[in-house]
Amino acid sequence: MKVKRVFFVVLCYFTYFTFFSKNSYIYKKCGVILYFQTKISSMTQIIAIVNQKGGTGKTTTAVNLGRAIADMGKRVLLLDLDPQGSLSYYLGANSNVWTISDVILGDISLNNAIIQRENLEIIPADISLADLEVSLAGYPQREYIIKKLLLQAPQYDYILMDCSPSLSVMTINALTAAKYIIIPLQMEVLSIHGLELMLETVERIKKNLNPTLEIMGILPLMYDRKRRITQEVLAHIVKTYSFLYMFDTLIRMDVKLVEAPSYGKSVFSYAPETNGAQDYMKLAKEVVTYDD
Ligand SMILES: Nc1ncnc2c1ncn2[C@@H]1O[C@H](COP(=O)(O)OP(=O)(O)OP(=O)(O)O)[C@@H](O)[C@H]1O
Ligand SMILES: [Mg+2]
Repeated sequence: MKVKRVFFVVLCYFTYFTFFSKNSYIYKKCGVILYFQTKISSMTQIIAIVNQKGGTGKTTTAVNLGRAIADMGKRVLLLDLDPQGSLSYYLGANSNVWTISDVILGDISLNNAIIQRENLEIIPADISLADLEVSLAGYPQREYIIKKLLLQAPQYDYILMDCSPSLSVMTINALTAAKYIIIPLQMEVLSIHGLELMLETVERIKKNLNPTLEIMGILPLMYDRKRRITQEVLAHIVKTYSFLYMFDTLIRMDVKLVEAPSYGKSVFSYAPETNGAQDYMKLAKEVVTYDD
């Protein structure tokens, strides 16, 4: 019995020093650490908030959904991938020295570019991202830049990426890195066309770059039940796209959501009792229980 125990201990030591010790040959050459990094990162829920149509509430959702999830005790990173830098501006992170462009260029590590706002961590973006995207034309594997960078990120529960209203290099990167996407949709006729474009894009990305990409749901936004068009568009989407999940949560029209960015605050800090705060908290509960 004692011999068996000694043998077991020796085996454990052997395994550790052969595979996991920093000085071991296998550790250095065979990328054991990268394997485990990938495993750990795969526990992170990476969500892209996308819609090729502009002004649908992507940035508002990234900030307030992110804050609501963080309030549930989760560690959340917001990644601004829009050269407009709206998310960064929203949370007063636009004067930050370092942005995602510097991280991509290798001028700073991802970890050192992260800043803190409320109980969120953010990597800002600015207009330099537009120039960088142009210079990336012809760059090999350019669709995987963000996916590879996120392997260096600390252990987050959720990473939310705010995308620009176009199929830019960074939007394609977000869709390649993401496990899920959320599509915020205003209840108006033009949104239906935008949704069709978005679904075509998702199919192409799944075919060529990210086969496991999944649409978590369509998020009805700026919902006003008194407007007939709102009800009609909602009914049309539910009927036509019955194969897609529509969140139970409807984000209602709320002026506090419009005002909050002027103060650099999420709606939870600016007006916690308002409909907007209630709706985003309800949405956060749906998102964190999605996999259950
Ligand atoms: N629930 C809401 N009620 C009222 N206004 C809202 C609501 N959600 C967002 N808005 C407002 O709608 C406008 C567009 O929102 P937002 O900037 O989040 O959209 P976006 O999709 O990120 O835009 P872009 O495509 O330009 O990046 C903003 O002025 C925002 O304050
Ligand atoms: Mg935006």
